[in-house]
This record gives sequence, structure tokens and C-alpha cells, in this order.
Amino acid sequence: MTTVGHTLNSVVIDAPMDLVWRMTNDLESWTWLFSEYESVEILERDGATVRFRLTMRPDENGTRWSWVSERTTDEVSRTVRARRVETGPFAHMDIHWTYEQTGSGVRMTWRQDFAMKPGAPLDDEAMTRRINTNTTVQMDRIRDRVEGMARALPRAPLPLRGRRILVTGGTRGIGRAVTLAAARAGARVVAAYHSDARAASTLAEELGPGDPVPHTVRGDTADPAAVDEMAAVCRDRLGGLDGVVVSAGVISHHPYGRLPLEEWQRVLATNLTGAHLVLQKTLPLLTDGASLVVVGSAVATAGMPYGAHYTAAKAGLSGLVRSLCKELGPQGHRVNLVAPGLIETDMASGMTPEKRKHYEQLTSLGRLGDPAEVAGPVLFLLSDAARYVSGTTLLVNGGI
Ligand SMILES: NC(=O)c1ccc[n+]([C@@H]2O[C@H](COP(=O)([O-])OP(=O)(O)OC[C@H]3O[C@@H](n4cnc5c(N)ncnc54)[C@H](OP(=O)(O)O)[C@@H]3O)[C@@H](O)[C@H]2O)c1
Repeated sequence: MTTVGHTLNSVVIDAPMDLVWRMTNDLESWTWLFSEYESVEILERDGATVRFRLTMRPDENGTRWSWVSERTTDEVSRTVRARRVETGPFAHMDIHWTYEQTGSGVRMTWRQDFAMKPGAPLDDEAMTRRINTNTTVQMDRIRDRVEGMARALPRAPLPLRGRRILVTGGTRGIGRAVTLAAARAGARVVAAYHSDARAASTLAEELGPGDPVPHTVRGDTADPAAVDEMAAVCRDRLGGLDGVVVSAGVISHHPYGRLPLEEWQRVLATNLTGAHLVLQKTLPLLTDGASLVVVGSAVATAGMPYGAHYTAAKAGLSGLVRSLCKELGPQGHRVNLVAPGLIETDMASGMTPEKRKHYEQLTSLGRLGDPAEVAGPVLFLLSDAARYVSGTTLLVNGGI
């Protein structure tokens, strides 16, 4: 293969190495990091190798160039090798990224080796000039964005930086608040949902630039095949799991004497069997010292009229968590239950004003909870701050 085109550019970024490495290799945020890319579509992940489609913003002629590339990262040597799989006008295009710690920051260097196809719109020399001009612009932008993030970090500690977490029910209500809080804390999240695709598609809008954008996966947690798929997405997208949060759940209200068997089965299948399937099928993905958090309910012990099926399922979670904490503890895994009181989500909507007042007055704080107020304790349990906390039930109910 003849290599005629060759460029070598570098920039020094005044930020910690792990931040420079993480931000510049977070492909999902490349549309923010670079000015030239309109979209990044991940096609396949295999260990440290990612195959993805890059689409550029329209050029001066309105053409959107798009191609598939492959990158392999090596965190130990802090190098990345990339090549275009769909070469377009190039006979070949290979890129080598290196990261080197210097006294004034991290020197990031890109070497590009390529050759243009005969008859391509630009010859090797013109493409070399074009790449050199554009790389300078992109590198300046990347430096500004990463340094900006580094300056913001002391104000926003990232207790879950780089942690890989699955959140079921992660697109609405309490689970959504957990997904967003975990991403803001630096975690890479897979958020699973059941039916509301619109809620899933709006997660990224609520995050700031630089926050890792959660992946989403659709499926019924009561369906073993769907949970296999959730686990496969976690394996392919994240490569493993440091935490699992089970928040998917449903509720309904029926006088016990007229509770249909199908409804009993549906509520137990989602709330209890679903939790079991998710925890069992993600076990092989867990790294040592993983944190598993199950969202139960304060009514599991208090009881609730017209909710025998729901409270039975939630009480079952308590046994599941207590047993798993003992069985999985030797591998360093922690398993905990969070039991919310009444939290302002769709699940808790539809109350009469009188009933609402009644519940508000039951709490010491005189109000219902916000989903973010459950996400905080869940994040605590996911983080190292709780590394000696296992088998516990954390009541989050405003002091009833
Ligand atoms: N809100 C409260 O007052 C309260 C109090 C105590 C405990 N909890 C518990 O907290 C958890 C979250 O409740 P929430 O208030 O956040 O409810 P929510 O707003 O209704 O959200 C429920 C979430 O679970 C998902 N889900 C429902 N059925 C599913 C299934 N079969 N398979 C997969 N995902 C499913 C939903 O996905 P789709 O949107 O795609 O359907 C949604 O993301 C539940 O376990 C609930 O029992 C809530």
C-alpha cells in the first residue's frame, strides 16, 4: 500500500490525563467535542474496538460526508489506532493517536497516513493541506472543551466517574432521576424501559455537555429473553457492569376479594420476577465489588389497602436482597434495598387532593418526595462512600 499523504499535529491540554482520555474517547459526545461531526452511530463494540459511522455537517456544497471507521483504544499505552473501513475517496486512511504527559499538560498527537484514490476530488497534497488546517481548528476546540470541563470538576465531583451501570425503569420517574444523576456523576449508563420510547429519547436533552449520554434498551423485565437482550447491550456497550439499579415497577389498586389472578401475576412478574431476572442475568457481567440496588417500597412493611399484590411483591424483594447480600458478599458485591415513601412520579399521580394532604401530613417534612431525592440515596449506595453498606434497607420517605 503506497502512503503518500502524511500529517502530524498535536495539542497540549491542561487537564488530568484520565479526563483527557475519557472525553476524547467518548465517541457519543464527539458531536459536541468536534465542530465538524453531525452524528456518530455506534455499530459494534468488541472489547476495546469500536466500529462506528461518522457523518459530517454539510460542506460548502451541501454534501454530508459519511463513512464507517474502526478504533481500538489501549488505555495502558494511552494510544489509539483507527482506520476508515469505508474509505470513500481515500485508498486508505489510518490514524494513530497518542497521549503523553508533559509538564504543562497532556500532549495529544494525531498522525494520519493516507493515500487518495486516483480521480478523487482532492489529491494527496491538497488533502494534506486540508487536514492540517482542519485539525488545528478541531484540536483548539477539543482543548477548550476539555480544559473547561477540568475547571468545572472541583465544583462537581464525579463520584461514579467511569462506572458502568444498568438502570431498569431508567427512563421515567425514580429510575430516570437515577439515570440522570449517575450520568452527571460520570457514570456510563444503560437505561432500560418498557414502552415509552419518547421518554427514552429525551434523556440526553437533560444532560450537560461532557456528561456521558446513556444508552437505552427496550424490553419487559418479566420476559427472560428481553432481559438477556438488556444484558447483551450492557456487555456490548459497556463491556461489563459496576452497578445495577432495579427500578422498573408497576402498581395497581384492587380490593383483595376482587383481585384478578392475572393482575396478581402481572404485578409480581414485573416487580419481583423482573428484579430476579435482571439480577441473575447480569451476574456474569459484574466486576468484583459491584453494587446492586433494588427499589422496593416503604409499603412493603407498612401495608397498603387495595395493594396486597404490590406489597407482597415489594416484601419479596426484601428477602431477595437479604439472601443475595450473603451469597454475593464473598465476591465483594453489595446488595441493598431502597424503600421510598410517596414520590411525585406518574405512579403516584391521580390522587384526590384530600388523599394527597393525608399523605403529606404523614411525613415529618410535610410533603411528598421528588424523584431526585431518591436518586441521591441510590447514588450513595452505588458509590464507594457506601462500600461497607450491604443488606440494608434505606427508607426514603420524608420521616413517616
Ligand atoms: N412513586 C412512588 O411513590 C414509589 C414509591 C415507592 C416505590 N416506588 C417504586 O419505585 C420504582 C419506580 O417507580 P416510579 O414511581 O418511578 O414509576 P414510573 O414513573 O411509573 O416509572 C416506571 C418505570 O418502570 C418501567 N417499567 C414498567 N413496567 C416495566 C416492565 N414490565 N419492564 C420493564 N420496565 C418496566 C417503565 O417503563 P416505560 O415508561 O417504558 O413503561 C418506567 O420506566 C418502582 O419499582 C416502584 O414500585 C415508587
